Amino acid sequence: MKTFATPRIAVVGATGAVGTTMLSILEERGFPAADIRLIASERSAGATVGTKWGDIVIEDLASVDPSGVDIALFSAGGARSLEHAPRFVQAGATVIDNSSAFRMDDDVPLVVANVNNAAIKEHNGIVANPNCTTMALMIAVGPLHAVAGLRSMVASTYQSVSGSGQTGIKHLEAEMDFLGADTEALISGAWEEPEPGLYSRPIAYNVLPLAGSIGEAGYTDEEWKLVYETRKILDRADIAVEPTCVRVPVMVGHSIAATMWFDRPVDLDEAVAILGDAPGAQLWDDRRVPTPLDSAGIDDVLIGRLRETTGTSGGISLFAIGDNLRKGAALNAVELAELLVD
Ligand SMILES: NC(=O)c1ccc[n+]([C@@H]2O[C@H](COP(=O)([O-])OP(=O)(O)OC[C@H]3O[C@@H](n4cnc5c(N)ncnc54)[C@H](OP(=O)(O)O)[C@@H]3O)[C@@H](O)[C@H]2O)c1
Repeated sequence: MKTFATPRIAVVGATGAVGTTMLSILEERGFPAADIRLIASERSAGATVGTKWGDIVIEDLASVDPSGVDIALFSAGGARSLEHAPRFVQAGATVIDNSSAFRMDDDVPLVVANVNNAAIKEHNGIVANPNCTTMALMIAVGPLHAVAGLRSMVASTYQSVSGSGQTGIKHLEAEMDFLGADTEALISGAWEEPEPGLYSRPIAYNVLPLAGSIGEAGYTDEEWKLVYETRKILDRADIAVEPTCVRVPVMVGHSIAATMWFDRPVDLDEAVAILGDAPGAQLWDDRRVPTPLDSAGIDDVLIGRLRETTGTSGGISLFAIGDNLRKGAALNAVELAELLVD
């Protein structure tokens, strides 16, 4: 693994929901960058962004010369990663990619900082950041798996609209205004369908039991990510995962209700002891119920509603919430970049 004392950084997708958060986290954490380049599409190229490293003019990804970049943080969508990440690697950069483009490639480590850091050591230029929902869940599940061995898990997600980027945030704002203009109609059923938009059904004042697009066996791509990424991160191919991914009218913060069984029974006292010490996590008791609003803008994953299973004994149920733009994406990418600093 190549490491750097004061790396030259590129943020690709710098104007997006994740990219702007990346820049502010690099600033907040005093990341020892020698310099930073900001890259987006031709729509944003030429605009100037004020940063701790001075005013930076956004470059166009299509024509950018990646020479001199040490670490490139990509968050411009899978198609851009597939096309341009190899160019950056060829020019000598290590790419930390937020998209799903390379996550399941055998020679690409999928790393959650504080859960499987060692995996980053073996890479061929690209390191993948997991999906935002899996990421938050792993902060809670990883430490339990490390001591008891996760065998099976039922996980239902409550995913915020910022998981769909800036477009998701604007879409929820517009639908809240449209449907919120007549709340009586929401109660009587006389509400009017908003203009067709980002999701298959209205998201404001609603719950969509389908996040992502339907794929194999009736499960969505988001649900399959939860299955395969959990197995890869925890390095155990036979973990049984039963996922349901749901979109909710929340701006930021992906929540997951998970019930897990392990190679041996885990009781509440043991789970409290493990999760009370888990890095990157805050364990809340039932007097302080964690919600997505509490997770917004903070680094820790909030864990609450910790219980022993009542049906099939020996398991643990919990509710975990992570800011999808921070730990779910930008923060983890910066934490991985920090692992590459000498
Ligand atoms: N949102 C999340 O919670 C989350 C979590 C984990 C991973 N991710 C992943 O992170 C990536 C970005 O997500 P986001 O939520 O930040 O999306 P977003 O808000 O829509 O931002 C997209 C970014 O990509 C850039 N971009 C789009 N098309 C481009 C092109 N043809 N060439 C160069 N740049 C282009 C945009 O630049 P312009 O402004 O110039 O168009 C913008 O900077 C996606 O791969 C997503 O799956 C997102």
